[in-house]
Amino acid sequence: MDEQERRMSEIRSNFSKGSGEYDQWIRRVIPRYDEMLDVLVSCVRYPEGRRLRAIDIGCGTGTLSAKLLASHPEVELACLDMTEDMLDVARERLNGHERVRYILHNLYEFEYDGPYDLIISSLALHHMVTDEDKMDQYRRIFQALAPGGSFFNADVVLASDERTQELYMEKWAEFMYQGLPRDEVDGSVLPRYHREDSPARLTDHLKWMKDAGFSRVDVIWKYYNFTVYGGWRCSVH
Ligand SMILES: C[S@@+](CC[C@H](N)C(=O)[O-])C[C@H]1O[C@@H](n2cnc3c(N)ncnc32)[C@H](O)[C@@H]1O
Repeated sequence: MDEQERRMSEIRSNFSKGSGEYDQWIRRVIPRYDEMLDVLVSCVRYPEGRRLRAIDIGCGTGTLSAKLLASHPEVELACLDMTEDMLDVARERLNGHERVRYILHNLYEFEYDGPYDLIISSLALHHMVTDEDKMDQYRRIFQALAPGGSFFNADVVLASDERTQELYMEKWAEFMYQGLPRDEVDGSVLPRYHREDSPARLTDHLKWMKDAGFSRVDVIWKYYNFTVYGGWRCSVH
């Protein structure tokens, strides 16, 4: 088993075990989680009544998808995740929405069945192991978008220098200590972050998106190491 397979298998197993408590747990771990996802959804601006084709990659328990559907009920939405138990919770949450389908798949091997008008993601792409994996994913996302389509991501990132990174980690731990026992933060959540997650600098993400072909790349929201950014596939070249 190579590093990527080992990592994906560990991630799948941990999210699988924690799927039942995920929705409460994530709000204790990620500061301003709902605000961050709401900001992402507010970026979705298309002419009213247009039926959007969208996909939420790494949808987990479906919180971002639910927020998108609440503000754009007409959307035709695919919810993709590689962890079956997480996808099952999403299925329950979104039960009743007729135009939603579920894709159990690993993003590494997923052939996008586009074109999509909108691709969204929250707290998933930092699981891609290497910088090259992330660049490749941006290229594939770009290719899967229809002209005029957009991609928005809410995620954890690294600072551009060590001192700022220390500040980020300090502020993040401070937040988690308010909602979780100290030994859980220091003995479980942070070690898991260092073991399973591969965040990159925001400045690198923006460059990789531009290199992949995106235009109007921008950062819409940021709170220390958590951010929402995105870009467009221009309709005119
Ligand atoms: C931290 S959760 C985020 C879930 C949800 N988007 C949210 O904001 O609450 C990360 C999710 O990404 C999924 N994931 C991570 N790597 C993946 C990959 N390579 N392919 C598909 N799903 C992946 C995990 O299974 C997990 O459900």
